[in-house]
Amino acid sequence: MNFYDVIKQRRSIRDYLPDKKIPDEVLIRILEAGRIAPSAANRQPWKIMAIKDKNLRQRVCESYKGKWLRNAPVILVVVGYREQAWVRPKDRHSSMEVDLTIAMDHMILAAAAEGIGTCWIMAFDYDILKQVLNLKDNQSVSCITPLGYPSERSLKEEDSFRKEFDEVVEIV
Ligand SMILES: Cc1cc2nc3c(=O)[nH]c(=O)nc-3n(C[C@H](O)[C@H](O)[C@H](O)COP(=O)(O)O)c2cc1C
Repeated sequence: MNFYDVIKQRRSIRDYLPDKKIPDEVLIRILEAGRIAPSAANRQPWKIMAIKDKNLRQRVCESYKGKWLRNAPVILVVVGYREQAWVRPKDRHSSMEVDLTIAMDHMILAAAAEGIGTCWIMAFDYDILKQVLNLKDNQSVSCITPLGYPSERSLKEEDSFRKEFDEVVEIV
């Protein structure tokens, strides 16, 4: 698929086929897209977790209110390591959230190219996720996403509204 077609056809999927597993070679290609993502000063301050284990997945799901997450065969979590991230010297601003987001976006777009559904999830309970994944205080998670094959119904949903080009873009 053409790159722009991938971007256009990606959408949030909130209904997955629970019994259709993702082939390992497809999952590896998606994870590889995250591994090679750029990061500030090339620090790569992350660990990418692909959670296939059913028991651990169900426990991760306890951190999020949407029941639909339970049907996804894989949950992706990008864990950041704050001390590894680049810091802008003058104002001490950390690159970590940007780095993690780029890695996640690489994988989300790779998944779209593979016909695998995703949904950015930020509205999880961090305290629960931290406990379930045994995260340390120097670690952090901005977003997670399910990975799975979309149901027929989810593919028929209408595209999300977007602001018009002239409203959000300025060419000066
Ligand atoms: C940073 C971020 C966090 C999001 N968090 C959630 C979330 O917690 N739960 C959810 O159902 N969707 C979440 N979304 C999905 C957005 O609602 C969705 O991307 C937006 O409505 C546009 O729809 P589309 O992804 O289908 O194009 C999130 C998206 C982003 C980019």
